[in-house]
Amino acid sequence: MVQQNGSQRQFNILVANGVNLDLLGTREPEIYGTVTLLDIERELQSNLDQWIKTLNLAPCSLHFFQSNSEENFLMEVSKPTWDGILINPAAWTHTSLALADRLAAVGTPYVEVHLSHLARREEFRRHSYTASNSVGVVYGLGVDSYVAGLMGLIRHLMRASKVS
Ligand code: DQA
Repeated sequence: MVQQNGSQRQFNILVANGVNLDLLGTREPEIYGTVTLLDIERELQSNLDQWIKTLNLAPCSLHFFQSNSEENFLMEVSKPTWDGILINPAAWTHTSLALADRLAAVGTPYVEVHLSHLARREEFRRHSYTASNSVGVVYGLGVDSYVAGLMGLIRHLMRASKVS
């Protein structure tokens, strides 16, 4: 976001992981692989400066959050601090009208990501309550869903705030 004096401040981006994603690493590794949530967070954090430099992105800071409590999750995504949200709502994707309504009401731009290839899985995973108000959705690429989603989110925020 550009401040009034012309200086650039960082985009504050929340990386929000929903229910059961704390179990990554041991949870159904044939579907989700063996990377842990901490591995994913480290991958994003440790490469961020390099991506910003090589892709000419605006400066960003990442804040990581995971909860199995829908209430806590709703409260976190509602904070006015966030310029954008990279969100994996996990099972709430397919069940939570409450989360979809909350994201729509709060209005913070978000990109939805999933590790697994939802189109290849059970029918009930093909519907996302949260996708329709998202900037975009990336799925099926494992940790790279987060990488691609983050790049897309930052570039969207740059366009929206006219940072070139
Ligand atoms: C998931 C896909 C959801 O269907 C599932 O409930 C999850 C993880 C994914 O990242 O692939 O918990 O969001």
